[in-house]
Amino acid sequence: MTPSDVKATLSFSDGSPSMDLPIFKGSVGPDVIDIRKLYGQTGKFTYDPGFLSTAACQSKITYIDGDKGELLYRGYPIEQLATKCDFMETCHLLLHGELPNATQKADFTKTVTYHTMVNEQMQFFLRGFRRDAHPMAIMTGLVGGLAAFYHDSTDITNPEHREISAVRLIAKMPTLVAMAYKYSIGQPYIYPKNDLSYAGNFMRMMFATPCEEYVPDDVLVRAMDRIFILHADHEQNASTSTVRLCGSSGTNPFAAIAAGVACLWGPAHGGANEAALNMLEDVNKMGGVEKIGEFIKQVKDKNSNVKLMGFGHRVYKNYDPRAKLMRETCHEVLTAMGKHNDPILKLAMALEKIALEDDYFVSRKLYPNVDFYSGIVQRAIGIPVSLFTAIFALARTVGWIAQLNEMIGDPEYKIGRPRQLFNGAVSRDVKPVGER
Ligand code: CMC
Repeated sequence: MTPSDVKATLSFSDGSPSMDLPIFKGSVGPDVIDIRKLYGQTGKFTYDPGFLSTAACQSKITYIDGDKGELLYRGYPIEQLATKCDFMETCHLLLHGELPNATQKADFTKTVTYHTMVNEQMQFFLRGFRRDAHPMAIMTGLVGGLAAFYHDSTDITNPEHREISAVRLIAKMPTLVAMAYKYSIGQPYIYPKNDLSYAGNFMRMMFATPCEEYVPDDVLVRAMDRIFILHADHEQNASTSTVRLCGSSGTNPFAAIAAGVACLWGPAHGGANEAALNMLEDVNKMGGVEKIGEFIKQVKDKNSNVKLMGFGHRVYKNYDPRAKLMRETCHEVLTAMGKHNDPILKLAMALEKIALEDDYFVSRKLYPNVDFYSGIVQRAIGIPVSLFTAIFALARTVGWIAQLNEMIGDPEYKIGRPRQLFNGAVSRDVKPVGER
């Protein structure tokens, strides 16, 4: 961390001594005020629910400028990665800090490919779930369950264990998501095939059957690969912070990533793509484009609790750059499939247009986020709505594990332990039950 010449001074109106707080500069983005000695010197905590103003770590992985609508993985703009690289190169970049050269790419891809199969016992574990269980409930269990199958990579303090568990998680997530899907529709599992790309292999495991081979379509494979790239990391969001906090206790990487999967499930986070598509389908059933005005009225009504899902973001106060790329992919996929007149796409575009002009959204800087269009693409590919968040988890696994490994390797790393402002009952005595 680079110290700034500027210092902050915290003073108190009750005459308590003031305190100088060091300021550190990042390579880009807001400076941070170092409050680590605050409690020791003043006996006071800071209060920041939802971490609106708090940097919980230092990181070199992902940078977002929410006002500009900029997203960089290790310094590279997401637009360049999405158009010039594939997901395996992106994984290498996030994990190891640099884009691979041709030999490194081939080696990395081969290593990941050769870890895609899961222990055969996993399928018996999966069979314990109800067939109608939500895929994210299954994924939380399966990912946590990996720790029971891969004992030789659970020591987070061992760099070799960290490396191999990273590869295993990235490699096995598509297999697990596809197994969860096959289980839900009562079809046999399809084993991975090593001559296919990461995205192609996933789609084959999803859509082939033992009776009929599935030949992945290039446009759809590219779209799937782009979905993976766009969701691969997003700095310190809720699930990534969950992975860091969970992993900070020294628990194994599979347990930490399972915690991330559980957090991602929520509709304000990874569950938004499912919620956005359900919303579009509901408005379509209400009468489609004709009924947009009525729907927007509900969204703007504070008492209705209706939100425009796929809109708004804690960090982006401008168009989410991932949404632009997803919008492009959406048109490409629907055109390739001859579905460019899809009513849901038409509705999404009309809704977006109105929201971008309406003062409610403009004044709050609410723009479409990546989930607004990713659901339409996935639905066109044939992925059921309930599986959308599991696919987000698959893609985000590399980001989670890169962030987890970065934290463990950071000399300043400590177990995460937030403090609180306590305003409950002060010490009191327990009365016998008859006197309460
Ligand atoms: N529809 C209608 N109003 C909204 C929306 C929305 N989608 N999002 C925010 N607002 C309003 C909110 O009611 C508030 O209004 P007011 O100032 O009058 O009280 C104002 O905008 C600020 O919102 P906020 O809740 O303080 O913003 P936040 O930063 O806490 O929440 C968010 C961000 C993503 C949780 C929220 O925008 C949201 O719930 N969006 C819909 C869900 C969604 O699409 N989530 C996906 C995020 S991108 C994928 C990911 O990274 O996981």
